[in-house]
Amino acid sequence: MENNRIATLTLDDGRSIELPVMSGTLGADVLDLRNLQKLGMYTYDPAFFSTASCASQITYIDGDAGLLYYRGYPIEQLAKGSDFLETCYLLLHGELPTSRQLAEFNLKVKRHSMVHDQLARFYNGFRRDAHPMAVMVGVVGALSAFYHDSLDITNPEHREISALRLIAKVPTIAAMSYKYNIGEPFMFPRNSFSYVENFMYMMFGTPCEEYVPNPKLVRALERIFILHADHEQNASTSTVRLAGSSGANPFACVASGIAALWGPAHGGANEAVLKMLHEIGDISHVDEFMKGVKEKKYRLMGFGHRVYKNMDPRASVMRDTCYEVLQELKLENDPLFKMALQLEQIALQDPYFIERKLYPNVDFYSGIVLRALGIPTNMFTVIFAVGRTIGWISQWNEMIADKEQKIGRPRQLYIGATKRDYVPMQGRDK
Ligand code: ACO
Repeated sequence: MENNRIATLTLDDGRSIELPVMSGTLGADVLDLRNLQKLGMYTYDPAFFSTASCASQITYIDGDAGLLYYRGYPIEQLAKGSDFLETCYLLLHGELPTSRQLAEFNLKVKRHSMVHDQLARFYNGFRRDAHPMAVMVGVVGALSAFYHDSLDITNPEHREISALRLIAKVPTIAAMSYKYNIGEPFMFPRNSFSYVENFMYMMFGTPCEEYVPNPKLVRALERIFILHADHEQNASTSTVRLAGSSGANPFACVASGIAALWGPAHGGANEAVLKMLHEIGDISHVDEFMKGVKEKKYRLMGFGHRVYKNMDPRASVMRDTCYEVLQELKLENDPLFKMALQLEQIALQDPYFIERKLYPNVDFYSGIVLRALGIPTNMFTVIFAVGRTIGWISQWNEMIADKEQKIGRPRQLYIGATKRDYVPMQGRDK
């Protein structure tokens, strides 16, 4: 990080302070505001529009140019050439693995894919109709109770083993929450399958018959995982970092990330897209629906992004995957898909969306692909969580190793009552 330039902030009372300008390897420079406290002032930046909370080497996004890099590699290249476990290795360790490193990593992840038998009993405590994300928050958090042997977060080996456990066990826990929901028996992971094949097997296999994965559908899910693997300091990742900054263990931190991901403005968006399509109901209602969007009665889900004010680069990859999957499953004429494509076309040409730089985000298409794969709507955000686990744990690991990080503690602009004296009940009831 270079910081040989200075910005000077001068207040109307004549006081001034010098603020170093920091430059990264790519992207906007940032002002180092740590000295601002000396003036007895803080910054006010709700929703962190202008705040860099950390320095990171993991993921780079240029929202205006529509760029997303993991450790410097463009997402389009990884989605085409890499597989999910290789991408996990890259995010966690910073470099693409050699074939030997990848084989070892693969083996280690597979060794950890089963969950403790005691953990499986947690499911019985949930109602069958519990939202699978509610189950995920609880069961992933509960992993903290099982691995006391490796919870020293200052020990890099302990952090590594926790990372492997999370990458390996979150898909098993996710598939179990689905099986519990539909009343089918849990499927033990099968190590002869690849990571993604195994996940599909645990989701769709039954003990009654052989499960044969369809390579095109496996590839589509692999892409969804790769595209969702990390996205720098988004809401759920920032939640994981903030929880981790207090020294909480990685399983508890990832559970907090899952909770933050659940919201419809974040990971819940692909589920919201499908709900929206069902509510619209028929292609003949699309114009009427778009009228309501422009009157701000509701939002067009799957459109817009806090950072991408141009095309979301993940959306372009997912759009191609979407067409491949629909073709493979001969679903091109499915009414719901036709309606989605109609909405996309209208929005891309409508001045309301163009002026506000609202483009389809990855979740507009991923919802459609997941539905085609046979994944029920209430599992969509869970799939996102499975893919994002590696991002959360890589960011958490980076934060713990960063000497500059301390417990996260934002300040506030207080606008409540000034000091007043307590009034006893007799005085209030008058
Ligand atoms: N449909 C209609 N109008 C929208 C939409 C939308 N999806 N998104 C933003 N707008 C409008 C707003 O009404 C606002 O209009 P105005 O300037 O006339 O008031 C303008 O565009 C800017 O909106 P903001 O809410 O300020 O944009 P912000 O960057 O804060 O929000 C967000 C980004 C939350 C993603 C928003 O676009 C949204 O709600 N989209 C739908 C939900 C969604 O798809 N989320 C997925 C995000 S991707 C992910 O998590 C992987």
